[in-house]
Amino acid sequence: MTTYSSSFHAVEWRNQALHLLDQRVLPHQHLIHEYTTATDVADAIRDMVVRGAPAIGIAAAYGYALDALAGRDLEAAYRVLAESRPTAVNLFWALERMASLGTSDAHTLVAEAKKIHDEDISANLAMGEYGASLLSDGSRVYTHCNTGALATGGHGTALGIIRTAMSDGKIEQVYAGETRPWLQGARLTAWELMQDNIPVKLVCDGAAAQLFRQGKVDWVIVGADRITANGDVANKIGTYSLAVLAKHHGMKVMVAAPLSTFDMTLTSGNDIPIEQRSTSEVTSLNGQAIAPTGCDAINPAFDVTPAELIDAIATEKGLIMKPSLETVALLVNS
Ligand code: MRU
Repeated sequence: MTTYSSSFHAVEWRNQALHLLDQRVLPHQHLIHEYTTATDVADAIRDMVVRGAPAIGIAAAYGYALDALAGRDLEAAYRVLAESRPTAVNLFWALERMASLGTSDAHTLVAEAKKIHDEDISANLAMGEYGASLLSDGSRVYTHCNTGALATGGHGTALGIIRTAMSDGKIEQVYAGETRPWLQGARLTAWELMQDNIPVKLVCDGAAAQLFRQGKVDWVIVGADRITANGDVANKIGTYSLAVLAKHHGMKVMVAAPLSTFDMTLTSGNDIPIEQRSTSEVTSLNGQAIAPTGCDAINPAFDVTPAELIDAIATEKGLIMKPSLETVALLVNS
């Protein structure tokens, strides 16, 4: 395995079973569930026990291997896992990689899932170095959602860059947007950064504009769920507004993502399927109603940030500066 130390594992393969840290109850409870079927792993992905594009892909690969271990139908396993969440392309990428081996041999499939997991950690460590190289000493970074060890195989994408930049002595302050409605920023990112003694201040999503206006931020650094051939980026709802605000205030925007997040079959972000989640996530908080009974709502889980608002995309292969059809193809196909 790639060397990576952490006090927790979002996704862990142990005793021929998948163990997932339940992200619905963090940070105040540390619950781990064991999974032995693809169907149960698909439910865990849909219900957000495990979330974050790379972690979803890794969990799906293990889910597929679990059904191979039990001698179950792998086409059915593929289908049920593919139906769990629509936006993060890492899910489909991982399933395709497993199925393309054309085998039902459990040993081979478990080994491939472990390889996907391991490669994701290495990719994050590499993109951490590339991304951090763009930051100056004393950087103040605003991040959105959770893109850390919880959302990936380990280290993280955007949080991986922040972690690497912190160990390079370049981080003065991190601002974590709370990320309504699911509160990944408040519940997960603040917790992860505090575990690593990285200075973090939690910010209501609505406070970002004022913070930017006061000149308190140098970089917005976020992850991605799908990047199209022209460099458009689908990421957690609220990312697009941050990118527009950053442009207005002359700040830089960096997206961090492994190559497994690129969907070169789509030429524009307009073609990315956007997950619509239950409106109860908007009208209630921790099971407590916060809106009038019967209040209608919308709950798109992701938005699309056009490439022209992004200064750089950091990948394990290097940086894409000013993403476009040309610059994305140059790096992805190199
Ligand atoms: O709904 P989630 O929590 O799965 O959304 C996660 C995000 O949008 C992340 O920014 C993205 O998956 C990148 S994680 C490294």
